[in-house]
Amino acid sequence: MSIIYKVVSVVVAIVSISLFGIIKGGTYHSPQCTLFNIGCPKRAVVEGYTKPKYSKIKQVYQKLFDDGEDVASCFAVFENNEKVIDLCGGYADGINGNKPYRESLQNVFSSSKAVTGIVISILVDRGLLKYEEPIATYWPEFAQGGKGNVTVSDMLQHAGGVTWLDDLIPFDLISSGQRQDELATFLAKQKHNFNSVRTTAYHMVSGGLYLNELIRRVDLKHRDANQFIQEEIAGPLNVEFTFGLPLDKEDRFSSFYEYPKLKFLVRLLPRIMLNIPFLPELEDRAVFKSFFNETSIARKSIKIITNEPEDFTNTRHWRDLTCVTSAGGFTNAVSMAKIGHIMALEGLPVDGVSFFKNEKAVKQANAFAENEFDHTIVKNFTRTHGGFAKMLPDSDIIGWAGLGGSLNVWDPSRRVSIAYVPKAKGFGMGFDGRSVALYKAFEELY
Ligand SMILES: *[C@@H]1O[C@H](CO)[C@@H](O)[C@H](O)[C@H]1NC(C)=O
Ligand SMILES: *[C@@H]1O[C@H](CO)[C@@H](O)[C@H](O)[C@H]1NC(C)=O
Ligand SMILES: *[C@@H]1O[C@H](CO)[C@@H](O)[C@H](O)[C@H]1NC(C)=O
Repeated sequence: MSIIYKVVSVVVAIVSISLFGIIKGGTYHSPQCTLFNIGCPKRAVVEGYTKPKYSKIKQVYQKLFDDGEDVASCFAVFENNEKVIDLCGGYADGINGNKPYRESLQNVFSSSKAVTGIVISILVDRGLLKYEEPIATYWPEFAQGGKGNVTVSDMLQHAGGVTWLDDLIPFDLISSGQRQDELATFLAKQKHNFNSVRTTAYHMVSGGLYLNELIRRVDLKHRDANQFIQEEIAGPLNVEFTFGLPLDKEDRFSSFYEYPKLKFLVRLLPRIMLNIPFLPELEDRAVFKSFFNETSIARKSIKIITNEPEDFTNTRHWRDLTCVTSAGGFTNAVSMAKIGHIMALEGLPVDGVSFFKNEKAVKQANAFAENEFDHTIVKNFTRTHGGFAKMLPDSDIIGWAGLGGSLNVWDPSRRVSIAYVPKAKGFGMGFDGRSVALYKAFEELY
């Protein structure tokens, strides 16, 4: 009896100490590291440039690493045509690696949507597209299935009626990037998800495929989004942003560091599934809960391609896709912040390069649309006409954010653009603790 009692006590003690370690420690620190300072990762030192005014950001950023809240990432800010912050920390080749993360090109998922929106605004400025015009004007076959009056702006605002696809896209139809006409035929056939009634429901993956085809139709040289960006944006600004990762840049890919499973199970899962009264409401709890529901809109919106492995994000197959302009962007923070500066300056040249003939299209793109309930995200979500959205708490800064924590936003009233690109997947949709902490530190110094 007393032996059993002792064994049970020891087990209970070990479980409690481990739970304490899991709950208390930094997100990316193991319980052993938190409790006994054993097995902690190699220290990641934040390095890079800040304008003297913003030098304190470096300490805030360093603390995120030291506290185990970040593993490897970069944070960059442009202000009034000047790079004012360009910091990175951690290693590209693993938590105890040697290769500085700075050289990496990372998939930024939905932060890509902001770049696609910028391409569209440039085409609007050139008179090749109008936000309020039905997509069918430029792509007649799109009118099928009750989509005849879906406008360009509806699609950008995630009210295009194609949140999910009834038939999944065969992987070989999109993998080579060479069958764009067939893909367009496939996409055009999809019937309106909500019987032609305008309904806002985040187009997690699909929207970017439709916008890519639209860009290809109206561009005078019939370039797709990726080609357009290389020639008209990334080249002139001397930055890196591609849809898909070209093979010659493959060695720059830094595979994702997954959100620790134990921490997810202990810290987050109970808060997602249950309404725990004494804890603050988890941001976006409703949508995370709906991911566990096979028939929810969120689930249907994420899976639109056949033969995708469960964890497709670290696969070369995924990096081959150049047409998924809603999620397939590969870049780094300094590149993305410079691209975002196009919208932050609302028509003024960026680093001497002019993107707009006048400020009408860019102002229209940045202007807030009506606040609407989103049936995928299951909450109200403030968007702009050009397909951007509020992505930070208590602020009017717009842009987009991506799975795992990337951020691509700008503030025209201050001529500021901000980007954050992490290797470690965080948890949240936009409101990632790391980018929010860096943004708040910037805000205090501004
Ligand atoms: C299209 O027109 C129908 C009928 O006039 C209307 O109910 C629907 O909301 C419209 N859809 C969009 C996307 O504007
Ligand atoms: C799952 O999602 C469907 C479609 O949105 C909804 O009707 C159903 O109530 C959900 N089930 C649960 C258990 O929440
Ligand atoms: C949420 O969106 C609905 C329309 O979809 C709107 O009527 C309502 O006012 C919005 N709520 C807030 C708090 O903005």
